[in-house]
Amino acid sequence: MAIRDIVTLPDPILKAVSEAVPAVTDETRAIFDDMLETMYKAPGIGLAAVQVGITQRLVTIDVSGEDEPDAPLFFANPEIIWVSETVREYEEGCLSIPDMYDNVVRPSEVKVAFLDYHGNRQELHCEGLLATCIQHEIDHLDGVLFIDHLSRLKRERIVKKFVKAKKR
Ligand code: NI
Repeated sequence: MAIRDIVTLPDPILKAVSEAVPAVTDETRAIFDDMLETMYKAPGIGLAAVQVGITQRLVTIDVSGEDEPDAPLFFANPEIIWVSETVREYEEGCLSIPDMYDNVVRPSEVKVAFLDYHGNRQELHCEGLLATCIQHEIDHLDGVLFIDHLSRLKRERIVKKFVKAKKR
């Protein structure tokens, strides 16, 4: 396993639409392992492959609490197949947009279909933090960031800050 560099704003790859994997192979699992290690090191609770420069539809998540054992989840080609009518507001952040946090409203529960670490098709009912996190990560696979859910003014202010920081 290896820790990979996390891509940050305004890298244009973050706007890329990632490609579905035809199958979960040993190569896929090697990427999953690197993603998990990178995510834990950051530290973060979710990571999409595009955030380490790989435009494949792969996501790792671990929303276990600090005092709980690690509970890593691996998603290949995750797809939201159901959303609740109820919504949940949560102050989101993103490893690709360091130190920026803002409230985003999303469905409070979702059902996700995906291939797991072993390539088996699974469905998972997600609620609470996991529901928020998986929606945030699937957004990444479509080139969408949490700041795209904010007002244009807020978004432009954040992007400008990162463009400026990069020039320095
Ligand atoms: Ni993110």
